[in-house]
Amino acid sequence: MRLLLATTNPHKATEVRAMLAGTPFVIETLADHPHLPEPGEDGDTFEANALQKAREIHAHARVPVIADDSGLEVTALDGAPGVHSRRFSPEATHEANNALLLARLDGRTDREARFVCVLALVTEGWEGTARGACPGRIVDAPRGAAGFGYDPVFEPDELGGRTMAEATMVEKNAISHRGRAFAQLPTLLRRAGML
Ligand code: IMP
Repeated sequence: MRLLLATTNPHKATEVRAMLAGTPFVIETLADHPHLPEPGEDGDTFEANALQKAREIHAHARVPVIADDSGLEVTALDGAPGVHSRRFSPEATHEANNALLLARLDGRTDREARFVCVLALVTEGWEGTARGACPGRIVDAPRGAAGFGYDPVFEPDELGGRTMAEATMVEKNAISHRGRAFAQLPTLLRRAGML
């Protein structure tokens, strides 16, 4: 059975294929559908954005679609940058986003934050979402070179004082918001009656 993963990232495709090994699913990505329009993401929640992407692609491709949306929520900033994580700073680079985040938290003692990822599955007769979260805190200065985005300024509770950018990819995937959301993919497929 065909399953279209709404990403051009080959790493995500490899991970999902490994997760669904031994099932009848053939995982396609947007690279296999170059004619599809770029999906929008202008919702207020990760759920709304993931569903919007999956619905728009499903409307064109007419095969079951999986899409995800993710970001960082900081408690002292009322959940910002949240759904605006990618474009938090005007420059919208990872370095500028991290610098702006540290500036906003300057002098604040409440450093609580979490990464969030929501996965949406849209099929002909069913749609649903699953959420994964990774709790932690924002450090005072960036540390580490692995990963991407806010990884150098985010210290997950489960990494013993290291930032996400100081973890290996295997360590990150075991505790990350994305790993936890994608781990629920078989459950979503079962609820959709596909597994
Ligand atoms: P998207 O869901 O892939 O569009 O991610 C939105 C933004 O959230 C990214 O551009 C990053 O700034 C941030 N983000 C999402 N996941 C991660 C992560 O695993 N590490 C660091 N930053 C992340």
